Amino acid sequence: MTERRKILVTSALPYANGPIHLGHLVEYIQTDIWVRFQKLRGHSCYYVCADDTHGTPIMLRAAQEGITPEALIGRMHAEHLQDFTAFHVDFDNYYTTHSTENRALASEIYRRLLAGGHITRRTIKQAYDPVKEMFLPDRFIRGECPRCGAKDQYGDSCEVCGATYSPTELKNAVSALSGAKPIEKESEHFFFKLGDFGTWLREWTRAGHLQPEVANKLDEWFNAGLQDWDISRDAPYFGFEIPDAPGKYFYVWLDAPIGYMASFKNFCESDKGRAARLRFEDYWGKDSDAELYHFIGKDILYFHALFWPAMLHGSGHRTPTAINAHGFLTINGQKMSKSRGTFINARTYLNHLNPEYLRYYFAAKLSSRVEDIDLNFDDYAARINSNLVGKFVNIASRAAGFITRQFDGKLGDTLAQSALVDELRAERDVIAGYYDKREYAEAVRAIMALADRANAYVDEAKPWVLAKDPARAAELHQVCTTAINLFR
Ligand code: 2FM
Ligand code: ZN
Repeated sequence: MTERRKILVTSALPYANGPIHLGHLVEYIQTDIWVRFQKLRGHSCYYVCADDTHGTPIMLRAAQEGITPEALIGRMHAEHLQDFTAFHVDFDNYYTTHSTENRALASEIYRRLLAGGHITRRTIKQAYDPVKEMFLPDRFIRGECPRCGAKDQYGDSCEVCGATYSPTELKNAVSALSGAKPIEKESEHFFFKLGDFGTWLREWTRAGHLQPEVANKLDEWFNAGLQDWDISRDAPYFGFEIPDAPGKYFYVWLDAPIGYMASFKNFCESDKGRAARLRFEDYWGKDSDAELYHFIGKDILYFHALFWPAMLHGSGHRTPTAINAHGFLTINGQKMSKSRGTFINARTYLNHLNPEYLRYYFAAKLSSRVEDIDLNFDDYAARINSNLVGKFVNIASRAAGFITRQFDGKLGDTLAQSALVDELRAERDVIAGYYDKREYAEAVRAIMALADRANAYVDEAKPWVLAKDPARAAELHQVCTTAINLFR
């Protein structure tokens, strides 16, 4: 075998204000398959994740339910982990961004960026709810679309005509919290000077860390210019207070990716981490020789391909080996929608269908490209029935009954067709290459082609005919042993 690689893998941290749904699962299943593959190959590979717990929506939802944000995120953490476990998504650590490790790391990274001159402050004007006495994120302002006039639209975009705008352009704007008319209020904010990393980022984003289509998209962003990034929010806010800035909090997106590090740090200090002698610095230090992969959705590329590498680089950490972005999930060809009944939570699916069917179906459709994938339930039923059950499982089921009934559940010592078994085995590097490159649809196609060959062998060897003739028991044993080996 080749050298034992040291690999750390993450999936995006799901928000703690809602349940896991099938859209989320595309990513966790994609990542879990990759991690299981690397582990099977004998590499050292760890998969960490966490709930993304901070921000205004979580604070408000807890208030609405009459509980503390801590109680809310505790409950969501348990629910999320239960769903992931049911789908066999096997994290080495599933943590929370509301942790001591994350607070310490976020503060330290901020201090280093500040010391490097990469943080600036300035006063900005923002919408403020005079009744609730808080600044309003765009999502909490509603009003009429400045372009098409549609009523009750969000502060940043119109769901009717698709226009994007700033909340100050909305007509007859009101706070979604109190119904009051927002006022404009000044406040000092902290900014990360992304532009300081412009030259470095241009190089980094062209150095093979991103999919080609993503690197092209980034060119558009570079050409539009790299703006300072507002990393602070005013109290009341559920998050971490910024060091030496009372009443100012880190914006949730500042500490969310740091949550990858914090989850790993927490894992290093666990019994398992200590037993494996894992050291945080070996994975996140500037001179780390480990590989670091982030699996994410295409909607959060800006954060992962620009802010995150710049933050890491600017604070003296290593940067990701690769960002692996995937597309969205559509259901029967359309965006998941609550009103059409196609917004399917993980729990709802589990109440009706086998999680491994979905894993198989997603695998059969996933590639390394940033393409949307469609869950079409007719196609799903056809593929599960004809491929997973009718071809793959069929190989074993055609032989296992005879082995159980006539041979005491034991395989024989010899194969009827060792050349065929060797032929199938010879495909393993090709298939492994597909897995490694995240070309799962290709892997599944290649595996199913082998399943066809195995089934053709069973068709020809006709164990059900052999089984009728006691004199041919040894032959039957050999054929069934061969079929089980082909299946394996
Ligand atoms: O988009 C989201 O759902 C975010 N909660 C993802 C965070 S990923 C990472 F940066 F923490
Ligand atoms: Zn509109």
